[in-house]
Amino acid sequence: MKPKLIVSRPIYPDVIERLKADFEVTAHQTDPEWTPQTWTQALSQHDGALTMGIETVNEEVLTACPRLRICANLSVGYNNFDVPAMTRHKVLATNAPDVLTETTADFGFALLMAAARRVTESERYIREGHWQKWALESFAGMAVHGSTLGIIGMGRIGQAIAKRGAHGFNMRVTYHNRSRLSASDEAACKATYVSKQELLKQADHVVLVLPYSKESHHTIGAAELALMKPTATLVNIARGGIIDDTALAKALAAGQIAAAGLDVFEGEPKLHLDLLKVPNAVLTPHIGSSTRATRLAMANLAADNLIAFFGNGTALTPLNPEVLTRP
Ligand code: DGY
Repeated sequence: MKPKLIVSRPIYPDVIERLKADFEVTAHQTDPEWTPQTWTQALSQHDGALTMGIETVNEEVLTACPRLRICANLSVGYNNFDVPAMTRHKVLATNAPDVLTETTADFGFALLMAAARRVTESERYIREGHWQKWALESFAGMAVHGSTLGIIGMGRIGQAIAKRGAHGFNMRVTYHNRSRLSASDEAACKATYVSKQELLKQADHVVLVLPYSKESHHTIGAAELALMKPTATLVNIARGGIIDDTALAKALAAGQIAAAGLDVFEGEPKLHLDLLKVPNAVLTPHIGSSTRATRLAMANLAADNLIAFFGNGTALTPLNPEVLTRP
């Protein structure tokens, strides 16, 4: 008997076919509107799950799913998982790091450029038929090359953004992170470690790339925005909830900072309505890693984790490897 696997949402048919060789697959290719009840009920019928990073797997869900042995997130972020609870229930958690690093760093830079150089704001101006003549200071933006970049969260993606800034745009790179990088990693990124406060005061562009947790909730709120330069831009490609969106909408409306580039939002896909009203916010629907090649690589890595786990009791990118060695 093959193990039963649930794939929570639409995914590439080729990946489903790969999985079918090893699993009895329940594929949800029509993108169901899961409720906590329907999700838990469906999950409880399966030995493993391929999840997209947005399905909750917590103590309550796990208690209702004694059969479950592994949840493989297609995303690198895993704030949908309560990993300690999964470890207690001997359920392996895996995520999909590395394969999306460069693509997501590209997008972080795209948002930085778009916010600083007012790309979407000026594009709307043209589309709405307002452009009558060339003007000297039309949509004057903030310089990117040679400016100071501040990165909060210096994991793989943070470092990839730092390298783009330092080597491609001659930026002075500062960073803040839970732990300081090794001297060689700092040198590769040409990055200087500073306190969060110093970073916010000095940076012309602040990029957030830290994982979401209770500790990182509202890393940027009214007090932090008040430290930033009025000419600064703020980019969030990490997770909603890392910025207090209410405080940010107020700061953007008041011109307390110049602009923001936001790919993630508190309570997404719902947005804080005031963010929709401010012209100086570039808004995208959580697409940082969205190129076909990268999303396919993420899906295949999640599949590889599932196949390895049921095949020989290993995993490529486990979040709680202790589960693998437990009797
Ligand atoms: C990730 O991989 O965490 C991206 O944000 C997609 O969810």
